[in-house]
Amino acid sequence: MRRIIVVANQKGGVAKTTTSVNLAAELARLGNKVLLLDMDPQNSATSAIFGYSNFEYTIYNVIVDRISINEVIQHSEPFGIDVVPSDIGLSGAPLRISEQIGREKILFHYTRKLKYDFVIIDAPPSLGLLTVNALTAADELLVPICPEFFSLKGIKLLEEVVTNVRTGLESDLELLGVVITRFLERSVTNEAKNAIRSYFGKKVFKTIVSENIKLEEAHNAHLPVWKYDKKSKGALAYASLAKEVMNAHKSKKRSKKAR
Ligand SMILES: Nc1ncnc2c1ncn2[C@@H]1O[C@H](COP(=O)(O)OP(=O)(O)OP(=O)(O)O)[C@@H](O)[C@H]1O
Ligand SMILES: [Mg+2]
Repeated sequence: MRRIIVVANQKGGVAKTTTSVNLAAELARLGNKVLLLDMDPQNSATSAIFGYSNFEYTIYNVIVDRISINEVIQHSEPFGIDVVPSDIGLSGAPLRISEQIGREKILFHYTRKLKYDFVIIDAPPSLGLLTVNALTAADELLVPICPEFFSLKGIKLLEEVVTNVRTGLESDLELLGVVITRFLERSVTNEAKNAIRSYFGKKVFKTIVSENIKLEEAHNAHLPVWKYDKKSKGALAYASLAKEVMNAHKSKKRSKKAR
């Protein structure tokens, strides 16, 4: 069964991309067929995986020129995943599609046809048309939250957009969970961690990703953290998160059956 997970939070620098690429690589290591779709004009996921590359076609050509997504898919051997790359040109896409009917659901029509166990979408740090396309294209939402920058107001705004997407765009998007990232043990971050747990309850993953320089180094080495330093805290955290992500769905299916 295919699962499409969007990693989103309009707050910048909360580890959306780090989570997307390392979760994708871990899911692949667990035997899944995985596609990572970079929906951010900053193309951090694409450059984390491939370095500075110049792709003839990117997600822009899918969204704007409506070329087949299969023509855009690249493979990454080190990550063990397929990738739909992005580049800076994507920042011009919202303007190009702004007048089109169905502009919020362009990506949706493409992701429905994909044959993967997991499609992970890395969203940009905004709540604009690209993020809305990423949200409508997915079934599950994963929200990385960095306690250092935690703002309930920001989270409520994201929730509002998700509600609008569900009601206005006939989406079944559900919150898969919240993952605490870049965690540094301090009284202020502990307070924020508790606030996140009391707000989201069981939706907070048990795995906490601590601040760990190996994650940044792996990013710069264009390797998944498990290949860069298997025993690092970052590698262990993303391995554990991937297992939770796989199990989260199984328990959801079980509880649906029980009803
Ligand atoms: N657990 C961590 N420990 C140390 N550094 C981290 C960790 N997670 C992410 N980083 C670093 O923090 C920076 C921001 O992370 P990342 O790019 O994943 O965030 P983002 O939410 O995708 O940002 P943007 O909003 O710009 O897309 C990067 O330099 C990344 O390497
Ligand atoms: Mg990012």
